[in-house]
Amino acid sequence: MKKPINIFFVGKGGVGKSTSAALNAVFLAQKGFRVLIVSLDPAHNQSDIFQMNLSDKALKIASDISAIEVDQDQWIKAYLKDIRNQIKKTYSYLTAFNLENYFKVIKHSPGLEEYALILAFKHIYQEFSNFDYLVFDMPPTALALKFFSLPSLSLIWIEQLVSLRQEIIKKKDLVTKIKFGQKEFERDKVLNKINVLRNDFQTLKDVFENRGRTRVQLVLNPDKLSFAESARIFLALKDIQINIHQLIYNKMQPDSSCADIENTFVDIPMLNFPLSATPLIGYEKLRQFLKNNDDLIEKQLDACYLIS
Ligand SMILES: Nc1ncnc2c1ncn2[C@@H]1O[C@H](COP(=O)(O)OP(=O)(O)OP(=O)(O)O)[C@@H](O)[C@H]1O
Ligand SMILES: [Mg+2]
Repeated sequence: MKKPINIFFVGKGGVGKSTSAALNAVFLAQKGFRVLIVSLDPAHNQSDIFQMNLSDKALKIASDISAIEVDQDQWIKAYLKDIRNQIKKTYSYLTAFNLENYFKVIKHSPGLEEYALILAFKHIYQEFSNFDYLVFDMPPTALALKFFSLPSLSLIWIEQLVSLRQEIIKKKDLVTKIKFGQKEFERDKVLNKINVLRNDFQTLKDVFENRGRTRVQLVLNPDKLSFAESARIFLALKDIQINIHQLIYNKMQPDSSCADIENTFVDIPMLNFPLSATPLIGYEKLRQFLKNNDDLIEKQLDACYLIS
């Protein structure tokens, strides 16, 4: 089955991640690709940019372009409900009182936000496989990095769980043999479940690391703070084998220098988006911006997406 290409827009707060995501999406849709914009930022901006009431249901913005705003809280609730059911089944010997105390605590667990975003990503990647591009408007840096690291981090934990479970199985097997002699070895349900999780996270890790499947576009402005944060994002992603595919030097002015950028992000292609004199709000305005800067932007985008 054909799978869409994911494009993630990351960068410091306010640099223009949402605007760049919208501009790239409009550009791709105009070239005839089917594009879905997905806002993974809990402080959604795409409704304001397209001046539409977006929600967690995909809504058509124009021909070939739709958008969806992921409801992070709803994904957290669904995840907690699932955990609740699993715990109730697995630990049926716990009293209702003990379980309630447990549930009170887990809803404050660290990591729930990025877990919810990963569940949403997984769902969207499967559900909207008929699109050519999924354009992700990402949350602030800290949460975006946790999102990308979650599969790698989970796999490290899962490896530990597997060896722990295998130790337990060995001991259980010994007890069974002593009690019942040569009993047939039954596949371990817990180990099966851990293996399902392992496969899931490995698939996600593979998708994130696959340059043909996933492109990360780092947005920055001609200022020292966004530059410094971008350099940290670049290194943090490199640590988990995720490459930056493209830099977007946004809000450029005629006197903005590129020297520092080219020295730090060697070999990463760069798009230049000029500072717009008027607000980039509304589908028509975005289209106009692309058109007005025809030579500058469209040619760069053609090269970026290898459109001839
Ligand atoms: N090239 C541009 N020219 C002029 N204004 C721009 C440009 N790009 C973005 N802006 C404006 O800068 C502001 C921040 O842009 P945007 O909301 O896209 O950034 P962001 O990185 O998504 O922010 P946040 O971190 O809050 O999600 C907005 O007012 C937007 O309209
Ligand atoms: Mg934004």
